[in-house]
Formats: sequence, structure tokens, C-alpha cells
Amino acid sequence: MDHFAYKEGKLSAEDVALETIALEVGTPVYVYSTATLKRHFQVFSEAFQGVHALVCFAVKANSNQAVLRTLAREGAGADVVSLGELTRALMAGIPGDRIVFSGVGKTPEEMHAALRAGIKQFNAESEAELEVLNLVAGEMGLTAPVSVRVNPDVDAKTHAKISTGKSENKFGIPWQRVDAVYARIKELEHLEAVGVDLHIGSQLTDLAPFREAFAKVVTLVKDLRAKGHDIRHIDLGGGLGIPYDPEQAAPPAPAEYGTMIREVLGDLDCGIILEPGRLIAGNAGVLVTRMLYEKKGVDRTFYILDAAMNDLGRPAMYDAYHAIVPVREAETDATLEADFVGPVCESSDTFAKARKTTPLKAGDLVAIKSAGAYGAVMSSTYNSRPLVPEVLVDDTRYAVVRKRQSLEELLSLDEVPTWLTGSG
Ligand code: LLP
Repeated sequence: MDHFAYKEGKLSAEDVALETIALEVGTPVYVYSTATLKRHFQVFSEAFQGVHALVCFAVKANSNQAVLRTLAREGAGADVVSLGELTRALMAGIPGDRIVFSGVGKTPEEMHAALRAGIKQFNAESEAELEVLNLVAGEMGLTAPVSVRVNPDVDAKTHAKISTGKSENKFGIPWQRVDAVYARIKELEHLEAVGVDLHIGSQLTDLAPFREAFAKVVTLVKDLRAKGHDIRHIDLGGGLGIPYDPEQAAPPAPAEYGTMIREVLGDLDCGIILEPGRLIAGNAGVLVTRMLYEKKGVDRTFYILDAAMNDLGRPAMYDAYHAIVPVREAETDATLEADFVGPVCESSDTFAKARKTTPLKAGDLVAIKSAGAYGAVMSSTYNSRPLVPEVLVDDTRYAVVRKRQSLEELLSLDEVPTWLTGSG
């Protein structure tokens, strides 16, 4: 459930009309709902009541500090994958001992910063990384808590570009190597194995692949414990899907996911860490954009928006479906089909093809829904389009939580060498 609804004919985020924000802040603009963020976090957390669980929001889904602070106040931890995300999480008030550090290519600098912050654990992705982490921790006179990310070789049955749990993927340590890797950790003086980690993919709409992978890991934990490793928790990763298309069956609810996990864990006395990203933020955000032009093609109508693939890349990258709705509730039931496209010079700059919609005209505002996760964070300045602003709504109030990048700011990053300006 989200808090975007028509109120007196105007699509609103909680009690703020999106039109009001568009007029004040301009378009395109991302708008997030505090109540939705909080609700999603609570519903997800409640699914694990009675289990020793730490919910670490996957910061990659939405790293705006206002969003992180909202979740931190609800008790969220963070799953980070870079020094930038670690810094954001700490600045947003998430304590180090609620932060896990994932990712296949951590640098010594990132390890150093994370150790200094006293993070809960490193999710290690390779044997080479463990050797470096041992050195960095040794230099600092510390012991690094680690979980090995295992690759369970399970097909997540999601889009190939967001599948991570098959042996051909770059993620995790191959199942056959896991034993040897834990044995090596025991030999390394500045590492301590505290858990096991996995993450098989994103936008999963079926529990079966999760169940299969989690069951494998439960067996592994028993094995590792028998070999003397003090495995205290399993990091189950993120990945539970969200509804994007109202016409499609909704993915399993967090409660069903929680029940499945309890079943699989059985009497294994082990804490869990969860890393949901999309589930918390996805349907808590929309991208509000204005229609610039209508153009008649030979056999179709194009609705040209002022937002483009550089602002929201998911449709171009993964053929992802995003619902598109008018900001002013339609006064007619009549529908037509249109392609919603952006101004970028690529055919992939298409948000929706042959989408059924009420008729729109130039100047109308539309909201591209489910854009709160992997939206703003994946934006770029392609075609020299400045980054768009983000707004957080809370009940009747709202604030710009990332200002629109100005053209000056964008251009000021370039430097022209003196041999080209003629002054050198
Ligand atoms: N943990 C790890 C180690 C991850 O790699 C990810 C996502 C998550 C947690 C969070 O997964 P979630 O709960 O959000 O599914 N840009 C793509 C999604 C990439 C996901 C990458 N990893 C998209 O827009 O669909």
C-alpha cells in the first residue's frame, strides 16, 4: 500500500498535491512519501517478529539522506557497497554496528573507513579480498567481522541483468570453495567469521528460488558449525519483488516471505540480516514529469515528456514496466494507446510502448509510478541534462531534499587544458 492517491481530482503524495510541487520545484521531479517509506519498513520488520532479525536497507536503492534518516528513525540498519554509501548512512545517523558492507570490489580505503566505523560485518566476495581485509585490519590493530557471500547456484527467475545467484554470475564464492575459504579465515589473524551471506537477485516474484537457496545455506551453517566456526547469523540479502503493474498478480507479501524463512530456519539457532531495498522505497516514490508535445507517428501517437532515460533508466535498461498516470484525474473514461518517450536521442528513451491511457495534451503533468527505488540513484547527466531534484513529503508538508543541479554546476566539472584555450 502506498500514500499516493487522488484527492479532489489531484494526485497527491499524502496531503500534498503533486501539482503544487511541480509548480514550485519544476519538472521533472522525484517525490517521495514519508508515510509510505515508514509503512513499508514496518510491514517488512513485522514479518520477522520473534526472529532475531536486523533489517538493513539497501542504500543503493535510494541513498538520499532524508530518506535514510527517515528509515534510521524507524530503526533501520544499512547495507552499503561503497565509501559514498557508508558515509551517507553514517551521516544519516545509522550506527556502525547496524551497517553491513557488501560488494565485489571493496578497496583498502573503503575497508579502512568501515573498520573505523565499527561496522557489523563485511560481506566478503572473494578470497583475494579476504587477504587484503586481513592486512588492513592488522594495520589498524583490529579484527574484521566477516560473512562469506556464497553463490548457491540457484536461478532467481528474474531479469538476467538483476540475477546474481547463478554460478556464471560474478557474485559470491563458488559453493565448492566455501569450506576452504572458511578454513582460510580461521588462519587469518585479523578476520573473524561471524556469518554466512547470500543475495540471489532482485525483483523476485516467487518464493521458490529463495526457499531453495536459503535451505542450502541452512545446511551449510550446520556444517560450518560442526567444523568449529561460530556462525551467529545468516544475511539473506534483499530481492523481494514489488507490484509495478496493477494488472499483474502481486508478488508474495512480506508476511509470506517471513513465514517461509521461519520454516526454512527451523530450529537453527541463528540470527538473520535482511537487505531489502526496492520493497521499502520502490512504491514510495514517483517521478513527476510534464508532457511537452504530442506527435503523430505513422501508426502511433508519441507523448513526449520532459523526463528521459537519464532521469529514470529502468525502462531503457531492463524493459521495466512503470505505471504512468495523469496528475489531474481524467474526466473521461475514453482511452487510447500512446508511446511515452523522453527527449534523449535514443530509441531506448521510451518509458512505455502502446500504453493504454486517457488522452493527454501538451502541458499536462503525469506521474511515473514505482520510481522510489533505482530511480534518482541511477540517474545520469546524459545529453547534458542536469540531475533532477528530489522532494520528500510528510503529511501536509514537503521539502526539497536534493536540489536541482544547475547547468553551471554541471558544466563546472569540465576543465579545458590550456593548450586548447590558447593561453598555455
Ligand atoms: N543486497 C545486495 C547484496 C544487493 O546487491 C541488492 C541489490 C540488494 C541487497 C537489494 O535488492 P532489492 O531488495 O532492492 O531487490 N537497478 C536494478 C536493481 C539492481 C539490484 C542490485 N542489487 C533495477 O532497477 O531493477
